[in-house]
Amino acid sequence: MPDTLTPVLSNTWDAPQSWKLATYEAQGGYAALRTALGMAPDDLITMVKESGLRGRGGAGFPTGMKWSFIPQDNPKPKYLVVNADESEPGTCKDIPLMMASPHTLVEGVIISSYAIRANHAFIYIRGEVLHVVRRVQAAVAEAYAAGHLGKNIHGSGYDLDVVVHTGAGAYICGEETALLEGLEGRRGQPRLRPPFPAVAGLYASPTVINNVESIASVPCIVSNGASWFSSMGTEKSAGMTLYSLSGHVKRPGQYEAPLGITLRELLDVAGGLREGSELKFWTPGGSSTPILTAEHLDVPLDYEGVGAAGSMLGTKALQIFDQTTSVVRVVLRWTEFYKHESCGKCTPCREGTWWLVQTLKRLERGEGQPGDIETLLDLCDNILGRSFCALGDGATSPIASAIKYFREEFEAGMHTPAAELFPYRASTAYAATVSA
Ligand SMILES: Cc1cc2nc3c(=O)[nH]c(=O)nc-3n(C[C@H](O)[C@H](O)[C@H](O)COP(=O)(O)O)c2cc1C
Ligand code: SF4
Repeated sequence: MPDTLTPVLSNTWDAPQSWKLATYEAQGGYAALRTALGMAPDDLITMVKESGLRGRGGAGFPTGMKWSFIPQDNPKPKYLVVNADESEPGTCKDIPLMMASPHTLVEGVIISSYAIRANHAFIYIRGEVLHVVRRVQAAVAEAYAAGHLGKNIHGSGYDLDVVVHTGAGAYICGEETALLEGLEGRRGQPRLRPPFPAVAGLYASPTVINNVESIASVPCIVSNGASWFSSMGTEKSAGMTLYSLSGHVKRPGQYEAPLGITLRELLDVAGGLREGSELKFWTPGGSSTPILTAEHLDVPLDYEGVGAAGSMLGTKALQIFDQTTSVVRVVLRWTEFYKHESCGKCTPCREGTWWLVQTLKRLERGEGQPGDIETLLDLCDNILGRSFCALGDGATSPIASAIKYFREEFEAGMHTPAAELFPYRASTAYAATVSA
């Protein structure tokens, strides 16, 4: 069982001006690109496959395998699209990565595009984070000026152009096919599959869509080898990854560790829970993943371990809540988010999330009616597996899991407001002692 942090992606984040090309190159940056350009593209795909790298955007799909689905006999252009939309509540790893070390991403983009034989790549960043857009744009400009991008990169004969595209700020545009719609200038709504993006993605051409962290993990694999990467983590969940700790912890932030580390171990390095706090519940992978409780502190945080515990590793966004938190209130807030972000394309999600919010609001006010819990579970049952995309499924996860572990709190919502059971001042008391 791993018990130490393994800073690889985050290794240079505290260097002065870590985002600058000169800093990145002084620490060995872009050496992997030169190695990669000397390799056959197929060998790079094999290397990434053998490393065991799995997509860090939520689903954990093997990255090398995804790349190998690009039909090279298709005469259309091939595209790489980096998903930098990062909007899942609790998820906050790609933005720090792009702010602190945008060249790790840019180098990954060049190597990955070369591997799939793409001459155009797009980095799709959510619109609200203008500072991140500027940072990545500046890094791309530096890379062009240094000859890492553009025509005949380092005399290899390989050409690549990178476009930094700004989304308009919608959670659904992180769903890969809605993202492609947005990139093409249409309303961001998911597409029917098949065809899958590997066959007909951007502009109906073969397209690989990968998360920021997935692509940023490629240079270190090229530099250090597939077996170096797979020596970290667990057998089926290889490598190190960024875990984002937030909530009632002493030192929230990004913790890079091998897959398979436990929350107990991560809390140890994060200074533990805040003074007087006891762990009540937590999300392993953002608000779309079923919540877990203190009994799951020793679950290995890899795809298999979290799955066996009844949840999903998702984006490794560990949101920690203590005993002062109303689970009904938190679940309502998340559900309001899903209702707001539902793109409206399919009925179960569009209508169902609205009804979920109405029912949860009643329970939060202490005005729940007999049968409300059954109504919530019935609604979840009618959304899960019946929605057009995974947003609908994700909206049901916190509700069904919260009822499973904290049914009595939902029952209390029939007569007592959450604000009375869990007064805000109890949660804010700690903040007051910290700022005093
Ligand atoms: C509603 C919704 C939002 C999503 N948001 C993101 C996101 O912000 N970033 C991301 O990388 N993947 C997001 N995903 C997952 C993507 O559809 C896709 O699986 C991922 O970008 C693939 O990259 P990976 O294989 O490197 O993980 C989202 C999925 C859904 C259903
Ligand atoms: S599940 Fe929700 S977000 Fe997805 S297509 Fe249907 S309405 Fe849109």
